[in-house]
Parts: sequence; C-alpha cells; structure tokens
Amino acid sequence: MLKINQERLGRRLEELAQFGGSEQGMNRFSYTKEEKDAQNYLKEVFAALGMTVTEDPLGNLFARYEGLNPELKPIVTGSHIDSVRNGGRYDGNLGVLGALEAVQCLHEQGIRLNHPIVIFISKDEEGTRFGSTMFGTEAMLGALPAEFLDRTDRDGITLRQAMTDAGYDPQGIFNSKVEPGSYAAYLELHIEQARVLETMQIPIGIVTGIAGPLWFAVNIKGQAGHAGSTPMRIRHDPMVAAARLIDQCDRIARQFQDTVATTGYIKADPGTTNVIPAQVDFTIDLRDVSMADRDQAEAEIKAAARLLEEKMGVTIEFSDRVRTPSVLCNDALMNVIEETAGEFSLPSLRMPSGACHDAMHFGPLCPIGMIFVPSVNGYSHRADEYTPLEDCANGANVLLNTLVKADALV
Ligand code: HGY
Ligand code: MN
Ligand code: MN
Repeated sequence: MLKINQERLGRRLEELAQFGGSEQGMNRFSYTKEEKDAQNYLKEVFAALGMTVTEDPLGNLFARYEGLNPELKPIVTGSHIDSVRNGGRYDGNLGVLGALEAVQCLHEQGIRLNHPIVIFISKDEEGTRFGSTMFGTEAMLGALPAEFLDRTDRDGITLRQAMTDAGYDPQGIFNSKVEPGSYAAYLELHIEQARVLETMQIPIGIVTGIAGPLWFAVNIKGQAGHAGSTPMRIRHDPMVAAARLIDQCDRIARQFQDTVATTGYIKADPGTTNVIPAQVDFTIDLRDVSMADRDQAEAEIKAAARLLEEKMGVTIEFSDRVRTPSVLCNDALMNVIEETAGEFSLPSLRMPSGACHDAMHFGPLCPIGMIFVPSVNGYSHRADEYTPLEDCANGANVLLNTLVKADALV
C-alpha cells in the first residue's frame, strides 16, 4: 500500500489556511485576492511536480500529472478552496491537498498511472458571494441562465464585474462546458460535515449519493407602517409572514426521512425597529437525496405560501437560485474505496451526503466516488471546523490507493 506524507499534509493545511483565514474563520471567496493567493501557493507546488496547470474560461483550475497512456481520459480528483463566511479550513481544502499528496507520493516514487491524473480546483463551490452553490462546476454542464452575470454580492458588485476585475472574461461562464466522457472518473476526499462517523467511531465514509440542493430567494411584500400606531388587526406584516413560512418549512421538512430545510439569510426593508417592514427577503435551502421527497416538500412549502398570502394580505414570490438534482456515486468506485479502507484496517460506512459537493456536477460527466473523514462534533461551515491530522491522512491514503486501483478499473 502506498502512503502519503502525513506531516507534509498537516503543514500544507496550515499554510493554505493563511490565505483568508483569521480568528473569525475562513473567508476566501471567488474572484478575490485571498483566493488568488491560495491558488498561486498551490500552482507553485504543482509546477514543482512537473504538472501542467490550465484554467477554463471562468477559472476552474486543472493541474495535470501525465500518465503512461496520454490517449486515456484523465482521472480527476480535487474539490474547492473557496469558503463560506467565517468557515473552516478543511471544507474543500482537504480534498485539494489530499489529491496533491496523492500525486506527490506517486511522483516521489516515480510511479505513473496509465491514466493522466488531473487535480481539480473548482470556482465558487460555496456560492457565498453570488448566492449560487457550485456554479463553477455547473458551468461545466453548460447549464447557467443568462441572468447569472447580473447576480450581485453583498457590496452590489456583479459577477460580471468581479470576473472582469479578476482578469476573466465574464462570457467564460457560458463557454466552460465539458462534454460527457471527457474524464474517466472523478474522486473527491471531503470532511463529513456531520457527526455520523464520529458517533460511530468509523474513520472512513463511502458516499453513496449526494443530496440535491434547491435554493430559493423568497420575497414577501406587505404594507409598511408605524410600529406604534398601526393596530394589529389591520396589518399586512411581511416579517410575520416570513416567520410563519420559515416555521412551515421546518415542519414540512421534518415529516420526511432525510429532507432538510434551512433559512440562513433574512433581510427586512427598511430594517428599522419602529417600522413594520415593506418587504422581507430571505433564502430557503431545501435538500434531499430522494427527489420525490424534495419535490413533495417544495409543493407543500409553496402551498403554505399561497395560504399565507390569502390570510395575511401579502404577496410571496419564490425565485430559483439553485435547482440541482441529487446524484448517486458509482458502485465500482464505492467498492474500491471500501476494499482500500479494509486494506488499511480502517472500518468504513456507506452513507449519503447531505452537503453538496463538486462531485455532483461530475456525475453527468463520468463515474464519481467520494471519501469522507470525520468532523469533530460534526462542526463545519464555522471557524472551529476540525478533523484530526491522522483522520485527514487516513482519507488521503485511501484516496491515493483508490486512484491506483481505479486506474485499472475505469
Ligand atoms: O452547501 C453545501 O452543501 C456545500 O458546502 N457547498
Ligand atoms: Mn461547504
Ligand atoms: Mn465543501
């Protein structure tokens, strides 16, 4: 069995975290200096390993380690290096650094697989700036709507402007399409971001499927008014309507086995203590691996909204921000991951992923496999996200040896 360099992996996790990391957590967003600095740090290592680094027109990054047979389609492995606001240093970064360790280990042992290996770093997997998770890999499916470039971040900067300022042609998001069959397989190492593995004391998760995210921007318009002089009986308060709808989302999601619903953002206009808002904007993040359950939950949430409109005299508008189907991982790759974990005497568990990942958009392009390692307390998307180095190394070792086996398989 090949083994990665655990100390170097730990050191690189520390070094990479300096770009956008602080006491508050990781703040590294797409098309920003922090992201560029992190990419440049990685590009230096890729170059030292003799890898060829390219970017697609929107900025997804590909570092290629040649194989013995350049005719073969590459096996792709990687993740993302952008973060949520005040996020953690393992989410995405471990997948990129684990892939780097795997290639560096092959390089140091003078091993070339038959397939080329491509280390992949996606653009804007988190969707923190422009409210659309995984748009870098979604663009590879050629599926972005025309209005995408007009989406703005919290400072009112459009995606168009952010791309231009970062040196990219905004049209790049419409011509980064990848044809199915361009890759032999995609493998991603990622932290679990929940506490199933920790609770069950199992070091390796074998992802069976990835829940499809459905993100709405919801706008509720009511009647602004004076908080003191407007009697309750004549109010059309959009904040109360929002509160009721958010509570309904929670209740509806709980009636299904694995559906999850979250409102992570809400904003009142004008947002003043003594003013009944004129309107309220908030988000709904609805997910499930079962598309039937997700569809049913969506229908019930929208029916609840219609009732609130009638009862409260408000108007409620939903607009899609993300609508991605769930995706299943490849059986043969799951079996290889399981077998490899066993060879390292690491117990493993087959499990769905509630969190979405770049692997979702590789699903329509090639067979995909994902390896999970435990998250302490299940914490993620927060500054105290943590996975012990030994667990990180376990995941990277399983990734490395799965790549070697997949070489003979795909
Ligand atoms: O939202 C997610 O599940 C991922 O972290 N982007
Ligand atoms: Mn994340
Ligand atoms: Mn992630």
